This record gives sequence, structure tokens and C-alpha cells, in this order.
Amino acid sequence: MDNAPRMKAVAGSRIIGTGSALPQRAVGNEELVAELAQRGVHTSDAWIVERTGIRQRYLAEPGLTTAGLGARAARSALEAAAVTADSIDLIVLASSTADQIFPSTACLIQAELGIRGGAAFDVQAVCSGFVYGLAVADALLRTGAHRRALVIGSELFSRILDWNDRTTCVLFGDGAGAVVLEASDRPGLLAQRLHADGSRARILCTAGRVDQGKIEGDPFLRMDGQAVFKVAVEVLEASAREVLEAGGLTVSQLDWLIPHQANIRILTATARRLGLPAERMIVTVDRHGNTSAASVPLALDWGVRCGMIRTGHSVLLQGVGGGLTWGSVLVRM
Ligand code: UT7
Repeated sequence: MDNAPRMKAVAGSRIIGTGSALPQRAVGNEELVAELAQRGVHTSDAWIVERTGIRQRYLAEPGLTTAGLGARAARSALEAAAVTADSIDLIVLASSTADQIFPSTACLIQAELGIRGGAAFDVQAVCSGFVYGLAVADALLRTGAHRRALVIGSELFSRILDWNDRTTCVLFGDGAGAVVLEASDRPGLLAQRLHADGSRARILCTAGRVDQGKIEGDPFLRMDGQAVFKVAVEVLEASAREVLEAGGLTVSQLDWLIPHQANIRILTATARRLGLPAERMIVTVDRHGNTSAASVPLALDWGVRCGMIRTGHSVLLQGVGGGLTWGSVLVRM
């Protein structure tokens, strides 16, 4: 007879702590505009604010790594959850700016946190990465094979920006956010739906790769902003409706909407289409810029630490980005 301990499936998982980390240097629009002008790249605070709502972003100092920033966010989430690193048996990192080709940056974070055992891997879904990671971690916790996970979004997008391309370099910033997710018979993750459409990969990509020791293709982020804008507004509305229905909630029962923080115009259009009052949406794009996979957990942690998001609140987390990928997770905090 098999005496091995059996995995006991659980009903779901819940978030027991949130955290975040930012590089030291906050760069306001005026400072960035002046730096870009020295390169002959012309933009203005007025254009950036009017078209995007961004007022500042954080930019990493040389030597800072995606793993280092992610580990800081993870420590802040562990502290908020009042649990120790050695109780973590799963690390899922969402990032498009991995420190190395391999091993995964999740493994580097595991080592930095001094965690031994369990599983660690990266999820690559660009700006939808955190939402993808949360859904994947929830599915693993439900099996009973893992008990407590760190789900992290950590990005150093400043490293893949073309600082001579004003259509992209003013939009993005660096940062990391994290949650501790625990297996629970009182599920906090109520519903999730993930989507991808690879036929639209070209409208937002960093297409370069390393081949025989050389960079082949374009190593910088490129985006057809208008094409992405149109898709983002459509899929965020559709995805919100789909997941609210799956979770048995109406828009009026939703306490907080946290869409991927790319552009204030996308956020307000999404809230308007859903009939959700703008005051029930968390907005951090003004202070962080677009931090890709870090944007949703950064905004979640900001909302929690400001006292806006509280235990028992329903929160809809939404990602959309390169792939194209999009998806939503409905959470009861
Ligand atoms: O994170 C993944 C998801 N990403 C997104 O959701 C991003 C979605 N897209 C957007 O947020 C917007 O499309 C952008 C912010 C990227 C651009 O805003 P837009 O209103 O679509 O501007 P546009 O591309 O239509 O450009 C308008 C004008 C152009 O000049 P002309 O052709 O009208 O003379 C651009 O050359 O603005 C010019 N422009 C700028 N001017 C000053 C573009 N970038 C800049 C700039 N400063 N930084």
C-alpha cells in the first residue's frame, strides 16, 4: 500500500499580504523632458500629461536588478502578511525584463530571500503577467501541492526603452509589486479568465534575441500606440464583464477596479463603459508610469496602504499588453 502523504485539494486561495518596491529615483516629466532635449528628443510635460496622465516615473540606478527589486517587494508583502520567507513553497514571477536568459528570475529571487525548496518560475505575459501569475498560482494552490505562494510582478522597462523614441520612452517606468497567496477553504480569488491573441504580437513587442553571442533583431520596445489603445479599451470592458459574471457580482457590487496602469484615458474609458464611478478605480499611472507586469500589484499595494482597499472588499484586477494578452481576476480581500 502507498504510504506517501496525499495532497488534499483545497477550495481556493486568498491574498494575505501585499507589498511593493520602487527604485530610489523618481523622475518628474520636466526633468525627463530636459534630459531628452539634450539628446535632441523633443517632448513636453503638457503632451505627456494630456495624452497619458503620467506625471512621474521611477527609473532604476545602474546595478539594480529585476530580482533585487522583486525581492524587496516580496519582503514587504511577507511583512504585511506576518509570515516568514521559509513558509513559502511557490514563487511565480511575472516579468518581461528577466535578469538572465536563464535561470528564471524567480529562482534568483528565491535565492535572495533564502528560500529552499518548493517551486519557482517566471510567467511571461508582458503587462498581463501579474494577472496570469495570480491565476496560475491559485490553480496550483488548489491542488494542495503547494500551501503558500509569492506572486510578484517586477520590471526594469527602462533597460529596454529606446531613449531616442519619444513615442515610447516617456511612458514606462520601473517597479515591483507582490502578494502572498495562501491556500484556503474560504477562497478569496473568486473568478479568473485569461486570453491571448498572438496574431497581434507585432503591435507591441521587443523582437530582438541573442543568437550565437550577438543580438539579432531590435532589442528595444516598439509599440503601435493607437492600435494597442483601441484593443485595450475593448478587451478591458469585455474581460471585466466576463469575470464579474463568472464570480456572480455586478458592477455596482464591485468595490474597486484596478486596470493595468498604462494611460489615464484607457482607465477612464473602461470605467465609463462599465458604468463604474471613477472614484471606485485605483489610479497610480500618474506617479508610476506604465510599469508593465508590476503595475497591477503596485496599484493594489498602494490602494491597501492608503486604507482605500480593506478586508472584505471586492477588487477586479485587470491586465492587457504584449502578446496580445489580457485577462482579469476577481478577488475578495
Ligand atoms: O502597457 C501595454 C499597453 N499599452 C498601452 O495601453 C498604450 C496604449 N496607447 C497609448 O497610451 C497612446 O496611444 C499613446 C500615449 C502611446 C499615444 O497617444 P496618442 O493620443 O495615441 O498619440 P499619437 O500616437 O496619435 O500621436 C499624436 C501626436 C503625433 O504627432 P502628429 O503626427 O499628430 O504630428 C506624435 O508624433 O503626438 C506626437 N507624439 C508626441 N509629441 C510629444 C508622440 N509622442 C510624443 C511625445 N511628445 N512624447
